[in-house]
Amino acid sequence: TRIDKSGHRHFMAKEMAEQPAILKAALGFYGVPNSGISGLPEGVDFAQADRVILVACGTAHYACHVAKYWFEQIAHVPVEIDIASEFRYRAPVLTAKTIAIFVSQSGETADTLAALRHVKGKIAQTIAVVNIPTSSIAREADLALPLHAGPEISVASTKTFTAQLLVLALLSLKAGVDRGRLDAKACDQHLEALQTVPGYVAQALDREDNYRSIAEILAKHDDVLFLGRGLMYPLSLEAALKFKEISYIHAEAYAAGELKHGPIALIDKNLPVVVMAPRDDLFGKTISNMQEVMARSGKIVLISDKAGLNATGGAEYTITLPAVPSFISPFVYSVPAQMLAYHTALARGTDVDQPRNLAKSVTVE
Ligand code: G6P
Repeated sequence: TRIDKSGHRHFMAKEMAEQPAILKAALGFYGVPNSGISGLPEGVDFAQADRVILVACGTAHYACHVAKYWFEQIAHVPVEIDIASEFRYRAPVLTAKTIAIFVSQSGETADTLAALRHVKGKIAQTIAVVNIPTSSIAREADLALPLHAGPEISVASTKTFTAQLLVLALLSLKAGVDRGRLDAKACDQHLEALQTVPGYVAQALDREDNYRSIAEILAKHDDVLFLGRGLMYPLSLEAALKFKEISYIHAEAYAAGELKHGPIALIDKNLPVVVMAPRDDLFGKTISNMQEVMARSGKIVLISDKAGLNATGGAEYTITLPAVPSFISPFVYSVPAQMLAYHTALARGTDVDQPRNLAKSVTVE
């Protein structure tokens, strides 16, 4: 079948726009709408696991980074994350009770595949979270959980990132149930929250003018800093990666609390700082870091919800997202992470779908 841009200017734009529909379909595939606990992924049991290891490259690695927070909080299981090229060369400690999850859009990334081969047979179970069900990683893992995101053409991953988040969220709920940390009622509440994700992602997508006008400002700079805490830290890392990949602007992400240990030295009126801060438990802390930037004349773009923006003054630029339970905030904040990079790339006139020096799938080490 021929894949076209369906009226969009780029595949990346089309793939971002597809997210609500894909997430809805994936929820349906995993049986979430009406089945409660029985709708969680089958074929894995986290009850006896001493550890969960999540390994991937690029954007998929940042999905794993989000999942670390979910698994620890919901299932109280020790979690390790690593990039595949480091993992297999660092003598990772493996036991017969370890479960390892390999996340890859293509299922063919050489380092991720090698990492899977490195642990296979030495641990309890290997799980593949992949978009291509016939890929090497899907075939070689003990269990393959497909994303159902459809073909992704743009080199920069968008819809497969949010689809990876969805499968990893379901796995973290399964772990919570298996380990007796999440009862049926609490699990149902989480599943109900996941069902609202497609609608909220659609709302976040519906702010194109806002993303465009801020991107036009970011495009005039040579460096951008992204800050976030908790679940928003990996989201900031993903936002900075998207920025580098398609706009060629140097972007860095920092855990907001780490600002004072280095990057604060960079702050002046020429450095835009994008702060991702939904009104959650860590909001006040992130905002106090934002104020440290403002006191040094840094230019702030604050991404938050209405309550968060009402509670804070002084941010020069703002993006208002829907207020959602903290558990699902990574899905909603993925949208500005993608859209700011996309519109900045448009403003800079770069090749959005085929950025220089990058490949969609890296099958060599
Ligand atoms: C390449 C792509 C990235 C992708 C990474 C991992 O670097 O340009 O967009 O995140 O590979 O790819 P995978 O197929 O394993 O998810």
